[in-house]
Amino acid sequence: MTFTVAIDGPAAAGKGTLSRAVAAHFGFAHLDTGALYRAVGVKGGDPVEAARSLAPEDLARDDLRTLEAGQAASRVAVIPEVRQALLEFQRAFARRAGGAVLDGRDIGTVICPEAEVKLFVTASPEVRAHRRWLEVGGDEGKVLAEVRERDARDMNRADAPLKPAADAVILDTSALSIEEAVARAITLIAAARG
Ligand code: CDP
Repeated sequence: MTFTVAIDGPAAAGKGTLSRAVAAHFGFAHLDTGALYRAVGVKGGDPVEAARSLAPEDLARDDLRTLEAGQAASRVAVIPEVRQALLEFQRAFARRAGGAVLDGRDIGTVICPEAEVKLFVTASPEVRAHRRWLEVGGDEGKVLAEVRERDARDMNRADAPLKPAADAVILDTSALSIEEAVARAITLIAAARG
């Protein structure tokens, strides 16, 4: 059985937490595609070469979740050859037996336009920045600026810009707890599975 759940949305919208919870509930595999771009961004050197030679140890680094890694990721993510190098791995993961959840920016639009379920998870920039600040600490104003800058870059790039797929369900989590957001996602996915 193959079954793909595509979860896209802007920075710190809670895609990761939601994806992990949904994957655990249905027994699906989960791929955090942002980690691929973060790993390319922090690797240094030629980003296209880094994307082509990405290895498991690159994804095991403990500095991938920093604000700097997020910025580095969104800079390399505008390069079409970088996106191309990461595409087949993501598509193969999406169609693996047993079901898969992929979270990112272009899963429902480019990587898996045929995904059985597409969610676009969002929240106001202030709410998202506050959630990310709880995770990384530091100056909350700086975290908000980082979130806004990265969203602008992700939405305005020419190749695979961040936007909801035409058939995506929009889930605004500004006023939802994580439990409520997870419950809504589970209801949608269960309905799609029939
Ligand atoms: O966790 P957060 O939402 O802050 O970011 P992430 O999902 O780890 O993604 C980091 C960056 O990678 C994003 O800002 C995008 O520039 C890029 N990215 C992308 O272009 N396409 C994806 N499918 C996933 C991430």
